[in-house]
Amino acid sequence: MFASRSKIVSPRLLVASQGSLKINSAQLGKHVPRSFTSQTPHLRTMASSSLGDHAAQVVFGQKHVTKGLGRQVEAVLTKAQGSYVTLGDGRQLLDFTCGIGVTNLGHCHPKVSAAAAEQCMKIVHGQCSIGFTQPYLELIDRLLPMMPHPSLDSFYFWNSGSEAIEGAIKMARIITGKQNIISMQGGYHGRTYGAMAVTKSKTIYSEGFHPLMPGVFSMPFPYWHHFSLPPSTPTSELSKLSLNQLHLLLSQQTAPRDTAAILIEPVMGEGGYVPAPPEFLQGLREICDKEGILLIIDEVQSGFGRTGKNFAVEYSGVRPDIMTIAKGLANGFPLSGVISKKEFTDKLKPGSMGGTYAGNAVACAAGVAVADAFKEENILENVNARSKELFAALEALRSKPELSSAILDVRGQGLMVAVEFASPKGTGPYDPLRNTSVPEKLSSRVAKRCQEKGMLILTTSVYEVIRFIPALNITKEDLAKGCQIFAEAVEEVVKEG
Ligand SMILES: Cc1ncc(COP(=O)(O)O)c(C=O)c1O
Repeated sequence: MFASRSKIVSPRLLVASQGSLKINSAQLGKHVPRSFTSQTPHLRTMASSSLGDHAAQVVFGQKHVTKGLGRQVEAVLTKAQGSYVTLGDGRQLLDFTCGIGVTNLGHCHPKVSAAAAEQCMKIVHGQCSIGFTQPYLELIDRLLPMMPHPSLDSFYFWNSGSEAIEGAIKMARIITGKQNIISMQGGYHGRTYGAMAVTKSKTIYSEGFHPLMPGVFSMPFPYWHHFSLPPSTPTSELSKLSLNQLHLLLSQQTAPRDTAAILIEPVMGEGGYVPAPPEFLQGLREICDKEGILLIIDEVQSGFGRTGKNFAVEYSGVRPDIMTIAKGLANGFPLSGVISKKEFTDKLKPGSMGGTYAGNAVACAAGVAVADAFKEENILENVNARSKELFAALEALRSKPELSSAILDVRGQGLMVAVEFASPKGTGPYDPLRNTSVPEKLSSRVAKRCQEKGMLILTTSVYEVIRFIPALNITKEDLAKGCQIFAEAVEEVVKEG
């Protein structure tokens, strides 16, 4: 109840009221809703311990955490284990978000957490420019055999996905001696300046922050929306249309001799959870080889088993020149990587890459434990088995006559899956796929309803898309439970209109 109040109480004020610093009623009145000030016993409880009360924590966060952060739940996340998250208000939610595709082995995986804890007692921070730590090297040893192509043999670790993208752009420019980068319409690569410039999924990420890094061009990812075609359009046709746009781009806007790299997510994440058709990636590879352009594959979200293979690019057999990884790499510890071939990275001057926390020993130890768990716990088998069940449940939902016009598309790979709803507004008045017979804002309303029913789930993209990112080791029972919650939520919201 308290969490929903619009005015904010500073717990500092409340704590002060218990000690020698008495707050006066004017101060209290300024910060506390009138109806609330009468609840003195509650105030006393809050004041008795610094941020010990859940409601106090919530209001403190509302007041002192920047508005620039979005937030799905107001309650404080206090604990998480496996596929469940516990909130400070006592609720326990089934988690189909995995912290946006990060805690892929479930929250607080015992072996990963233990490896990190053990590393904490050995060496926490060595600094990569001072010397290697053992987990740094062990992680490379574990990752080498997982790489989608043997040429990927030179590693550089950083902290976040955005930083990995910054590193990949810097490398591409040095390796080729060229500047321009082509990224995909709908692509998401992060929020730092270089990463923001190549991000084309939503204007919110760059609105007001211009000028961006120059030398960035974009082409349409083979997603039917980008060509105003229906979802049933064969991927071979979409691939040809996109590749044709690339040919035009290279002859009209950025010549191959000025183009350093093409950057793509093998499953477009923030842009709508759309897998890149294998023939499209193969077409990109061909053009890159012919024109001396590097192919950067961003596996930050799709990597580490998320799609049923170690890396999503494996579905196409395409060789990346540079690959970026993060998220599932260390199951929640901040760690990312840029991987290329030694022949390329030998062109970098020592010191041109680096960062205080880059390749932190504790995060690398967690990464080693993740790689070991992948092998020991048959993670990929589980992803593929659960994926079949998830698709079956979503297709069954779509086949219900009362939902057939509301659900436009079910797509994805492994446990990186999306349901797209129809929209009465579409992408604007000229969108031929607009459907005025369906309710508005289905994705956000369904996500909210799921939460009310005990499950965290996320929307994505500028379209009406819900994304499913459960833990890769989710049990059959929890997956079925999540599908049931989702089905009930969709049916209720569509019925309400
Ligand atoms: C494909 C992809 N690349 C890059 C990023 C940026 O990663 P980070 O948020 O760790 O900076 C993300 C984050 O969602 C992503 O999905």
